[in-house]
Amino acid sequence: MLKDDKITITDILNRKKDKKHISAITAYDNPSAKIASDAGIDIILVGDSLGMVIQGEKNTLKVEIEDMIYHTSMVSKAEPLPLIVTDMPYMSYHLSVEKSVENAIKIVKYGGAEAVKIEGKRIDVIKSIIDAEIPVMGHLGLTPQSVNIMGGFKVQGKLKKKAEEIYKNALELEKVGVFSIVLESIPEELAKIITQDLKIPTIGIGAGKYCDGQILVFHDLLGFTNSKLPKFVRKYADLYDISVNAIKNYIKDINNKKFPDNEETYHAKENLKGLKK
Ligand code: KIV
Repeated sequence: MLKDDKITITDILNRKKDKKHISAITAYDNPSAKIASDAGIDIILVGDSLGMVIQGEKNTLKVEIEDMIYHTSMVSKAEPLPLIVTDMPYMSYHLSVEKSVENAIKIVKYGGAEAVKIEGKRIDVIKSIIDAEIPVMGHLGLTPQSVNIMGGFKVQGKLKKKAEEIYKNALELEKVGVFSIVLESIPEELAKIITQDLKIPTIGIGAGKYCDGQILVFHDLLGFTNSKLPKFVRKYADLYDISVNAIKNYIKDINNKKFPDNEETYHAKENLKGLKK
């Protein structure tokens, strides 16, 4: 039974009709799902960016379907109100339509995702997954799983030929039935045209202000890292510095015998003298 205020794909589609913006965040575990839900986010994406953010890889290509199921189940156990969308990782939808549908079903069945996201224009795969009753979110522009084909994490569609290809792909994805499309790292002029011409919502990341919604990674927007982030990230907190300082204080207290104090300590109810030989 869904909670009354649980966000569904119908709510996401209605946001565009009602001209209301969509807030989305990439989050990978139980506490971050609870925080995002309590803050009132519309969509939690369990993104395969966890390969870089959590696993420390240089791209997302090594992420396995089991990783996505594991992280999705941590998120879904938080019973968050936002819609839970999970990325299908590299190789989970590239080999055959049948295998792709099986993998999408696993993400829903064992992870608890309510929709899956697929990078690129994989029409047959997307159609079959939707036929298996799983809503699909599209993803165009910079699609990180194509990093080797694209020659790096580069802005896409700055020139007309590529912009036209992305635009046409967006129309095709809408036609096949995706309920929304992530537009990553494209010029805002292109994102504007796509957003105007589609009935389904667009969710931007590095795609400017005209998208119907925006998405950022939890760890990026909260400043959990001190390494260089893409220019489209806005840091709303600096939890890296806060965390380093907190742990420094902890170390100082240990060394100065200031931790733990009496309040943080259990005491025996009986005299334990004579216990030791
Ligand atoms: O994996 C991810 O976090 C994503 C978002 C950046 C859209 O795909």
